[in-house]
Amino acid sequence: MYCFTACQDDSLQRAKSPYEFVAPSNFPAPTYTFYNNSITEEGFKLGRKIFFDPILSIDGSISCSSCHDQTLAFADNPLHPFSIGIDGLVGTRNAPGLANLAFNREFFWDGGVTHLDFVPINAIESPVEMGEDITAVIAKIKNDAEYPALFEAAFNTTEINMPLLMDALAQFMLLMVSNNSKYDAYLKGEETLTDQELKGLQLFDQKCESCHSGILFTNQGYFNNGIDSVFSDSGRAAISANPLDIGKFKVPTLRNISVTAPYMHNARFNSLDAVLDHYANTVLPSNSLATSLVQANGDLGIPLSIEEKEAIIAFLETLTDYEFLNDPRFFKE
Ligand code: HEC
Ligand code: HEC
Repeated sequence: MYCFTACQDDSLQRAKSPYEFVAPSNFPAPTYTFYNNSITEEGFKLGRKIFFDPILSIDGSISCSSCHDQTLAFADNPLHPFSIGIDGLVGTRNAPGLANLAFNREFFWDGGVTHLDFVPINAIESPVEMGEDITAVIAKIKNDAEYPALFEAAFNTTEINMPLLMDALAQFMLLMVSNNSKYDAYLKGEETLTDQELKGLQLFDQKCESCHSGILFTNQGYFNNGIDSVFSDSGRAAISANPLDIGKFKVPTLRNISVTAPYMHNARFNSLDAVLDHYANTVLPSNSLATSLVQANGDLGIPLSIEEKEAIIAFLETLTDYEFLNDPRFFKE
């Protein structure tokens, strides 16, 4: 059993198999609807095979893993600030890292997808990502030498359809729980942080935590953090149709942030230094700018000295979960 709410009894947190979903006790309750799709070893492994398989794309060239690389916490290659799909076509947003998806309320930079099961169809049918029709994908999978037996083993039916394909991919992604960083070890009393990291944590709590909140490092809200004052991507407004949301984007998690450069939906910054310089010096005005980025005297941004920026970056580096980046369950078979 995994814990829907925080487990009081630590014994409940230990998974009986590596394919069991266990919510860490200091995480919020998962949002994912496990009652419709509980994880099994066969389902997870089927999802893994699909994740790495370019069969999902129209010309057999692009898999989910083309843009989501485990060694980069499932973010994209830094040489691809905007994802590259079939025929070298370039998208308009940076691929985020994937972790702790079972706890996300909404997906994509604008929150346009409200359930994990609906994410893959967007990638598959996107003309600049995989460019394929889902019915064609299902037909290819039905005719494949290996998939029919794997679907049957996972779902106990000879049926192969889109919901089952999505269930398998979700099972694979749901086990991407990242909670073994140095910071997590510090919280458990198993590691100490350096003075600089501790100073960074303190500054982070004062200056960043209102948006990058809690153990997931996101309040799951939508804000404009001042990287633009004219918006080529309207962000949240494309979904909410509320003009006040123009330029707002989902607050991303900062877990594994040291390996997921470049940063922001539009890959504006190549380093954490550049991100901190932005918050300190280049926050731009607009109607939707977050009020927490406007100081009492009307100046914009978050004042930070060089030492303070360095301390925050040192703290952010403690959020890298090397166990997650090297977890063999996620390796291509
Ligand atoms: C061509 C590159 C590309 C491919 C291929 C791709 N993705 Fe993505 N993925 C992205 C980008 C870019 C985003 C952000 C999209 C947005 O915000 O509009 C994203 C977002 C996501 C998210 C949401 C993460 C979050 O925190 O909101 C998930 C989950 C995901 N992709 C899973 C997958 C799966 C599963 C596949 C294979 C079916 C896949 N992706 C294929 C580029 C790609
Ligand atoms: C008002 C809310 C808010 C505050 C305060 C805030 N952020 Fe952000 N942060 C965001 C949003 C929203 C984004 C995504 C913006 C985008 O992509 O357009 C973001 C993006 C980031 C990113 C890039 C993440 C990625 O995956 O690309 C980093 C790193 C970051 N913030 C660090 C910080 C730090 C450090 C602080 C404190 C100095 C801070 N943020 C304060 C809202 C905030």
